[in-house]
Amino acid sequence: MQLDKKNIPQHVAIIMDGNGRWAKKQGMMRLFGHQAGVETVKKIVEAARETGISVLTLYAFSTENWKRPADEVSGLMSLLKTYLKSELANMLKNDVQLRSIGQLENLPVEVRQVLEQSITETADNKGLILNLALSYGGRIEIISVAGQLAELCLKGELKPEEIDEKIFSSKLYTAGLPDPDLLIRTGGEARLSNFLLWQASYAEIYFTETAWPDFTKDDLINAVTSFQQRQRRFGRTGDQVAEK
Ligand code: IPE
Ligand code: IPE
Ligand code: MG
Repeated sequence: MQLDKKNIPQHVAIIMDGNGRWAKKQGMMRLFGHQAGVETVKKIVEAARETGISVLTLYAFSTENWKRPADEVSGLMSLLKTYLKSELANMLKNDVQLRSIGQLENLPVEVRQVLEQSITETADNKGLILNLALSYGGRIEIISVAGQLAELCLKGELKPEEIDEKIFSSKLYTAGLPDPDLLIRTGGEARLSNFLLWQASYAEIYFTETAWPDFTKDDLINAVTSFQQRQRRFGRTGDQVAEK
């Protein structure tokens, strides 16, 4: 299948899963899988840019992942810090704009510092937007929007009946970004695990057995090709969509 350059998903979101099982299968520690996963991140960021994707959101750490053993959590945080430090030069060279969504205040301070620095330094880049979901949870995100809107109502700056999808979206972590068109989950599980619950309401979902450390540019292209073969109906009939 050839890739249709005129129908590239604008926003691709990936649940990067399967690192731990990938490592365990080889008799290695889970962290070895996460290290390999970082190498895949580097390759897929580049592949996304080459494919013409505008926004790539990567689910790197969920609000639930804090419940993992302390050494795995600290190993992941330290990998994240190293990745951010070592990739800044590449992001600048490749015109990648870094963003992040999630409860960033819960990240260790030294991770937050390099994260904020990279976000600031890449803010004017116009190529790919790389959006890292860190300590991210879809439910807590939605709850936070509810709180912000309630606050505005209490202050008399907003009426409950004025709340619509547009206002709601503008308070999400992803404000200003398009909703994901294609959501990929590697590692064989077919669930959302609290990822982009609001934003993914009409995303095309692609599940693959391939573990994240084994995921390649060709796998990304296969996912995009699958996306291109689907008819997005958004509630209409197939005939209505075909007429357009
Ligand atoms: C995904 O891989 C990475 C994170 C959640 C941080 P896992 O660590 O969940 O790997 P599996 O699912 O146990 O194989
Ligand atoms: C989802 O993977 C979170 C990330 C990939 C960061 P998990 O491995 O944490 O998901 P569950 O627990 O299997 O649903
Ligand atoms: Mg997992």
